[in-house]
Amino acid sequence: MQKPANNIYPIHPLIRKRWSPRAFLTKSVEKDKLQSLFEAARWAASGSNDQPWQFIVGFNGDETWNRIFETLVEFNQLWTKEVPVLLVACANTISKKSGRKNPSYEYDLGQAVATLSLQATHMGLFVHQMGGFDKAKTVLLFELPNTSKPIVAIAIGYYGDVGQLHPNLQPLEEARRVRNDFDTFVFVKNHGNPSGLF
Ligand SMILES: Cc1cc2nc3c(=O)[nH]c(=O)nc-3n(C[C@H](O)[C@H](O)[C@H](O)COP(=O)(O)O)c2cc1C
Repeated sequence: MQKPANNIYPIHPLIRKRWSPRAFLTKSVEKDKLQSLFEAARWAASGSNDQPWQFIVGFNGDETWNRIFETLVEFNQLWTKEVPVLLVACANTISKKSGRKNPSYEYDLGQAVATLSLQATHMGLFVHQMGGFDKAKTVLLFELPNTSKPIVAIAIGYYGDVGQLHPNLQPLEEARRVRNDFDTFVFVKNHGNPSGLF
């Protein structure tokens, strides 16, 4: 299934194509593609080039995958059983250079995941980020140091079929993708003042 953005202004085909499905094939993700995903993440911008992102990778059937799955909320467990690759994306909260708290660790991790997602789209893969996971449990299960914060869990794989999903999830998979109007987030002068660009 494809769910391209119904964009008003022209955008790059990869941005148009990316979406977050829940129906994944069991087909595993090739090692070279995983290498490219993390290479893409690696080249994201970050505050002071601190590169605070960290990823823990699990492959369906292995101990790491099982542990990540265990941290997911019930809703996310409902659709991730078939997912070949699960990640926990963490961020180092302390700047390597200054030794002080990195003010942009979450922002930087988000950029790395966005970059990884577009690379995935380019290679025919799909990425679905999940905030619905137990962070405290993740810290314990993966023995994270107190400088490392789990931020998001991520499912990666090839697209499956909407029919494989739990009936409650099928309408979500087929739902139209919606976005806010430009005037709600692009301003001039004061916050909230429409820019007049659109
Ligand atoms: C930080 C973050 C947390 C999310 N958490 C969940 C989640 O726990 N479960 C889920 O099914 N989708 C989750 N999503 C997916 C969003 O619902 C999805 O990205 C959004 O609806 C926009 O859809 P699109 O990615 O297809 O454009 C999350 C996305 C992000 C970026």
